[in-house]
Amino acid sequence: MKTIAITGATGQFGAIALTLLQAKQANVVALARNPAKLSGVQARAFDYDKTDGQIEALKGINTLILVSSSEVGQRVVQHQNVINAAKQAGVQHIIYTSLLGADKENAVRALAGEHLATEQALKASGVNYTILRNGWYSENYTAAIPAALANGAFYGSAQAGKISSAVRADFAEATVNVALGEGHENRTYELAGDESYTLADLAAEISRQTGKDIPYIDIPVADYAAALVQAGLPEGLATFLAQCDEDASKGALFSTSQDLTHLLGRPTVRLADAVKSVL
Ligand SMILES: NC(=O)c1ccc[n+]([C@@H]2O[C@H](COP(=O)([O-])OP(=O)(O)OC[C@H]3O[C@@H](n4cnc5c(N)ncnc54)[C@H](OP(=O)(O)O)[C@@H]3O)[C@@H](O)[C@H]2O)c1
Repeated sequence: MKTIAITGATGQFGAIALTLLQAKQANVVALARNPAKLSGVQARAFDYDKTDGQIEALKGINTLILVSSSEVGQRVVQHQNVINAAKQAGVQHIIYTSLLGADKENAVRALAGEHLATEQALKASGVNYTILRNGWYSENYTAAIPAALANGAFYGSAQAGKISSAVRADFAEATVNVALGEGHENRTYELAGDESYTLADLAAEISRQTGKDIPYIDIPVADYAAALVQAGLPEGLATFLAQCDEDASKGALFSTSQDLTHLLGRPTVRLADAVKSVL
């Protein structure tokens, strides 16, 4: 049986994937900066920044799930470190969580460059790869439901841009299916939810389920960023989120790809159910 390792195992995505791998009786190694955070699984210390020990940590691994780092701005070097170590350790297959339409002009601009550079590094490494270009997590928007209820409106800057998001668990399950499946080497998948919705559609769904009138109110990008700062978000994160909405208004989060549903072998979780689980 092959041995599968996963980075970012202490993160939200990694935790779901790890649980699924264990449920499927896979031979799994969890990689984490602080392996003491993990129990009930073989865990090894692994920091994207610390090249010392990376090759050792990847010894005996056949398939590596490289969950993209959360440290935006550092990721090209971090991911290159991991790819170099994996190659030297003899890893045969790297599965990487990239970004929907990473090579398209209208991709999410704050994120696309690092993902595309990582994709290129993977291809140049000579190690078999699978690129999973993940669309937006539905949770990025459903997390704003409590604030929308408190404010009596859902604010944003995505205009009528369509969003083909999927819940984090759908992306994680597809990743596990690729790791355990056959024939995914050297392929790139565009992963998006089956449904596409606007923020007005999301607000209408929240209204329907709560019985309250929660309209979607579109505001200029700078005003939205300022409102997020006023709500307590750090300025960098607020600007990033507002820019993502602006990109969404231009189609960055929209896709009609069926790759995710094919990898899952079932429909993606419906928006109504994602909203319901938050409510
Ligand atoms: N598609 C989307 O909408 C979307 C949204 C958010 C994030 N993402 C991407 O998807 C990834 C997984 O998402 P998530 O929700 O699981 O994020 P998360 O909960 O923030 O988890 C991030 C993981 O990365 C690990 N990490 C950060 N820096 C590291 C380093 N230098 N060395 C080793 N590990 C490091 C963290 O480890 P510690 O426990 O040690 O901190 C944690 O396990 C994110 O990292 C990001 O690239 C995508």
